[in-house]
Amino acid sequence: MKNTVLTFREAKGREKLAMITAYDYSTAKLMDQAGMNALLVGDSLGNVMLGYENTLAVTMHDMLRHCAAVARAAENALVVCDMPFRSYRVNAAQAMRNALRLMVEGMAQAVKLEGGAEFCLLVRDLTKASVPVMGHLGLTPQSVHALGGFRVQGKSLAQAQKILDDARALEDAGAFALVLECVPAPLAARVTNAVGIPVIGIGAGPDCDGQVLVWQDMLGLTERPARFVKIFEQTGKSMTSAFAAYAEEVRRGAFPAPEHCYGAPEGVDFGELT
Ligand code: KIV
Repeated sequence: MKNTVLTFREAKGREKLAMITAYDYSTAKLMDQAGMNALLVGDSLGNVMLGYENTLAVTMHDMLRHCAAVARAAENALVVCDMPFRSYRVNAAQAMRNALRLMVEGMAQAVKLEGGAEFCLLVRDLTKASVPVMGHLGLTPQSVHALGGFRVQGKSLAQAQKILDDARALEDAGAFALVLECVPAPLAARVTNAVGIPVIGIGAGPDCDGQVLVWQDMLGLTERPARFVKIFEQTGKSMTSAFAAYAEEVRRGAFPAPEHCYGAPEGVDFGELT
């Protein structure tokens, strides 16, 4: 069944939602077939696909291209696309224009943006313009420099109160869901209970309404995964050994074997070539 923003709203308190990052057509197809509720075209593509240290340099062009590829694969999963760092901070018109581009050219079905009360006017405008918005609180990687690094957020009561207030403000502004990243599990539980929209956790404990992971993390492709990552299968290791086996067979002349080759058409003798 096709997942929509309505599915998300209705799932609150009833069933947990599974979201995963996706950046390309082939992988997104497998994820969709596996029954994901949502595919997040995260700006983490800057890290895992492009090799950047953080997400700041990711462009609209990057997001549009990857989002459209994922959207072409997603039959049932809701496709959510991150708004990159520079795409919504200049002014409201710039933000609206870029969100609309992600929905039309990128074929996104919702956008995600990082930040709380300070972005609520924008969330309200986007929602009014029929652009569903997913919020993102806690560790917001686009603010890595403002936060002083990638670290657990909401550890003090003051910080925790701000996250709770921001979650309420985002809901009030019309966000249909929010991601809560890297906060103490009891705080995530408190936020989840305080709002009527689904809270999708990453490093936020078991009491959120759903979970999201970066696929390269959960398949063991990441060198130093965060503590909150569970590696579901060591696909990274089996990929490396498949690549090594291929290189070895090429060098030894074992690949390609006759069954991988096209023979000469009947009556054609390539020995006659001069
Ligand atoms: O960009 C991303 O992958 C994200 C997830 C970590 C939630 O925002």
